[in-house]
Amino acid sequence: MRKILVTTAWPYGNGPIHLGHFAGMVLPADIFARYHRMKGNKVAMVSGTDMHGTPISLKAEQEGMTPKQLSEKYHKIIKKSLMDLGASYELYTKTTTENHYETTQDMFSTLKKKGHIYKDSMDLFYCPECDRFLPDRYVEGVCPHCNEEQARGDQCDECGMTLDPIDLKKPYCSLCNATPIEKQSEHHFLKLSTFNEELKKWISEKEDEWKPNVINFTKQWLEDGLEDRPITRDMEWGVPIPGGEEGKSIYVWFDAVIGYLSATKEYTDKWREFWEDEEAETYYFIGKDNIPFHAIIWPAMLMGYQNLNLPHCVSANEFLNLEGRQFSTSRNWAVWLNEVPFDPDAIRYHLTSIMPENKDSNFTWEGFQTKNNEELVSTYGNYVHRVLTLIQNELNGEIKPKETEIDPEVQQKIKETVEKTGKQIDNREFKKALETVISLSAYGNTYLNKKEPWKSDNPKKTLYNCLNIVKTLSIITAPFMPNSANQLWQTIGNKDTVHKQKWSNAKKPIKETKIDKPKTLFKKIEDKEIEKQINKLGSEKMEEKKEQEKISFEKFQQMDIRVAKIKKAEKIEGSDKLLKIKADIGNEERQFVAGLAKTHQPKELIGKQVIAITNLEEAEIFGEKSEGMILAADQNNKPILLKPEKETETGTPIK
Ligand code: MF3
Ligand code: ZN
Repeated sequence: MRKILVTTAWPYGNGPIHLGHFAGMVLPADIFARYHRMKGNKVAMVSGTDMHGTPISLKAEQEGMTPKQLSEKYHKIIKKSLMDLGASYELYTKTTTENHYETTQDMFSTLKKKGHIYKDSMDLFYCPECDRFLPDRYVEGVCPHCNEEQARGDQCDECGMTLDPIDLKKPYCSLCNATPIEKQSEHHFLKLSTFNEELKKWISEKEDEWKPNVINFTKQWLEDGLEDRPITRDMEWGVPIPGGEEGKSIYVWFDAVIGYLSATKEYTDKWREFWEDEEAETYYFIGKDNIPFHAIIWPAMLMGYQNLNLPHCVSANEFLNLEGRQFSTSRNWAVWLNEVPFDPDAIRYHLTSIMPENKDSNFTWEGFQTKNNEELVSTYGNYVHRVLTLIQNELNGEIKPKETEIDPEVQQKIKETVEKTGKQIDNREFKKALETVISLSAYGNTYLNKKEPWKSDNPKKTLYNCLNIVKTLSIITAPFMPNSANQLWQTIGNKDTVHKQKWSNAKKPIKETKIDKPKTLFKKIEDKEIEKQINKLGSEKMEEKKEQEKISFEKFQQMDIRVAKIKKAEKIEGSDKLLKIKADIGNEERQFVAGLAKTHQPKELIGKQVIAITNLEEAEIFGEKSEGMILAADQNNKPILLKPEKETETGTPIK
C-alpha cells in the first residue's frame, strides 16, 4: 500500500475561484486522489484557502471590510464551489487556524535557530502620501519583462513573471497613485543561497519523472543562482513573527506553503506517516506561475528544517485561457466556479479533455457544448442507454451470468482498458486516460451494432457482455465524473457507492443482477444556454482592453509601406520555405527573408513589383538578415503577393 499526500495550490481568499484554477490544479489532483483511493492506497488530499498577504488586505480595503472578514467570506464561497464540483479533499482548510500559526512559527523559529534565517535592512517602496510601506501588490507599475502597464508588485498577470516591487518601472502607490520613495526597513531573510547546490542535485534526480516545464524552469533559476529572500513584510495582516515585531508579519508565501504540513496535521494525528516515512509520496498540483515556490523555496525550507519529506512530485499545468484570452480576475474575464449552471460532471469531463497538461489550452463555451453533446451524450451516454434499455426490453432487466457466457474478445478489451487507464492516471496523463475510458464506450457501441441483439432470438450473451462494459465504465469513470459514475453503478443493481470499489473490480464480470429503469446520465446542452454564458462574458473592462489592442491610426501612419521591385531571389539552404530576396525600395536595396519558397520559383519573381514594409526592426531568420516584410494575402496558408494596380515608380509610398 502506497501512502500518498495529494495537495493543490492554495487559492487566495480574495475572490471566488474560476475554471482556470479548477482545470489547472484541483481537477488533476482530484482524479489522481480518487484513483489511488480505489487502488487501496492511503490517500490524504489536503489544501485550503490562502488567507494572508496583500491580495487579501488590498481587496478588503476596496470592499470596506477587514482582511479577516473578506477572506472568511471568500473562503466559504471557494470551499462550497470546490465541494459542488466534486473535489474530494480529506481536508480543505484555511491559513488562519491556530494550528497553522503554530506550525508556521515553529518552522520560522527552527530555521532561525539553525542559522537559515537572518535579519538585515533593505530598501523598500514607501508612500509619502499614505505614510506607509508598500509591500508587493501595494505598488503597481510597468512590468520590466513584458512592459505591461499595470503589473502588480508581486507578479505580472500578463506574462506571469514573479516580480519584486522595486523592479517595477514607473511605480505608483496602488492606494493613492502617488509616486513612492525608497526607504529602509529591517526584515528577516531566508538564506536560500545555502541550498543552491543541494537543490540542483535533488532536481537532477527528478529529471525523468517530472514534466519538463517544472524541470526547465527550476534548473534555470538554480543556474542563475539563488538570492536570499525577505520573508517578512511591513504589514499587520499575516502570521505574527515569533517574538512579535510592531507593524510586521510573516510573508504570505512563507506561511502558505507551510499550509501543506499544517493541513496534514489538522487532518490526522498520524500526519507523520505522510511527512516522515520516506516511502510516502507527496504530490503538488499547481499552476505554472507557482513553480518557484514549490520546486525551490518550499523544498529549501524543508531541507533547512530537516527530517520532513521533500516533494516527491511537483506537477504544474500550463494555463487555461478563456475564449482565447488569459483568465483575469481583475478584468472580470473569467467563468466563476460558483456561477456555472451546468452538470459538474460535464464540466469535469470537458476540462479534463482540454487540460493544459503540456501547453496552454483554451476553454470556449461552444467547445464545451460540442464535447458534451457529441461525446458525453452521443457516445458514452448513448451506449449506456442503449444497453440498459435493451436489457429492460429484451430480458426484463434481468442478467443471469450462469445462463450465458463471456466473450473473450470483450473481456480482453476491458482488461486492457482498465490497466491502461490506471497507468495513465498514475503517470498524470489525465487527458490520455480519459480518452482511453471513452474509447471503451465507442468500442461498446461498435460491438453492439455488429451483434445486433435486437434481431437475435437469443440476445442474452451480447447484452451480458455489453453490460460488463457498462460496469467497467461505471468504475473507471469514477475519478473523472464521480456523480454520474455512482448513478450508473446503482442503476446496474448496486446498493453501495462506486467510490468504495477496488479499481481491479472494474475488470470483473458482473454478477447476477436486476437493472433499474435507466435514467439519463447526461443532458444535451441547447444553443440558448450557451449563448447566455457567452453574453455574460465580455464585461466593459474587456471591451476597453480590446479597444487598446486595436492599432491606432497614428501607428499605421508610422509604417513605411512602399512599392518595391525584386532584383534577386534565391533559396536559403536548409530551408524549404524561405527565400532570400533583394529588392529595390526606391532609394536603396534591401534584403528580405520571405516564406515564399513553397509557392514561388525564385526566377519568376525577379523584376516583379511588390509591396513591402521597410521600417521594421531588422530581424535574423535562418541566419540571414531580413530588413522588412513583403506583403501577401494569406489564402489557406498560401501566400499571394500584393502588387500595385499598374507599374509605378519603385519606392512610391502607400498611404
Ligand atoms: N495563493 C497563491 C496563488 O493563488 C498560491 C499559494 S500556493 C501555496 O497564487 F502553496 F503557497 F499555498
Ligand atoms: Zn499611497
